[in-house]
Amino acid sequence: MYNVKTLNKIAACGTDLLDRSKYTVGDDIDNPQAILVRSASMHEMELGDDLLAIARAGAGVNNIPVDKCSEKGIVVFNTPGANANAVKELVILGLLISSRKVTAAIDWAKTLKGKGDEVGKLVEKGKSQFVGPEIKGKKLGVIGLGAIGALVANAAAELGMEVIGADPFLSVQGALNLSNKVKYVKSNKEIFETCDYITVHVPLTPETKDMINADVIKTMKKNVRIMNFARGGLVNEDAVVEALANGGMSAYVTDFPGDKILGVDGVVALPHLGASTPESEDNCAVMAANEIKDYLENGNIVNS
Ligand code: MLT
Repeated sequence: MYNVKTLNKIAACGTDLLDRSKYTVGDDIDNPQAILVRSASMHEMELGDDLLAIARAGAGVNNIPVDKCSEKGIVVFNTPGANANAVKELVILGLLISSRKVTAAIDWAKTLKGKGDEVGKLVEKGKSQFVGPEIKGKKLGVIGLGAIGALVANAAAELGMEVIGADPFLSVQGALNLSNKVKYVKSNKEIFETCDYITVHVPLTPETKDMINADVIKTMKKNVRIMNFARGGLVNEDAVVEALANGGMSAYVTDFPGDKILGVDGVVALPHLGASTPESEDNCAVMAANEIKDYLENGNIVNS
């Protein structure tokens, strides 16, 4: 009998595929052989002696003490690609929202409540303050061409954007996943210096922390719009606040806001919603549960 502990309800939904004659599953299990987790932080958790594997229902593994797991021989799995479509859709929304001043317009439209027959007239009078550019024909730079970055690049190209992408670790499969409308460039420099929109899709590591900082922003176009649906620490928030205030940047859309940028003009902050669709949650949970099953029962290791 295998014991599998579930740390989040969402991660738990994939456990339906674990045969209950072989598995005990729940959130109250002591000394599990495996743990299924979504976003709960495991950094302060004790890793029991029976623990063999942790599966994260998501791509990033920042909430798991990976080094400690390696020392103890605990295999850490993630679910690359399983939520890529959900994130891609939100990034495309981010590109549009950053262009068409949608959030400010929605807030303004609410202020017309109670104006009765005047609403139509007020709408026509006020709408000129919300003019924003189309994304068609504009240049998008995609940093990181893994599962999510490639989908974003292809979708943006289909919407008529000129898309360039960079990724020092681009695999053969990754290259094959790219539409022939996407141009591959060797370094981020060309992206920083020439793009109207930039979106980051790389993991947060000591090397990528603050990869978009004040010095880098200074090399960008003055009206650049930056999307961050990957991890907060990739973009330096002090630099963003300063660039937005002094006209060195047009918009910052982030799914990982820190305190400094909340409420700042030009910032659209979302509460880590990229993977929050039922389809993506199911995909991730099922993939994570399968990884655990395949490892415990057959010793197979995929996506670790
Ligand atoms: C990811 O790393 O794939 C996302 O952060 C998943 C999530 O929203 O939990």
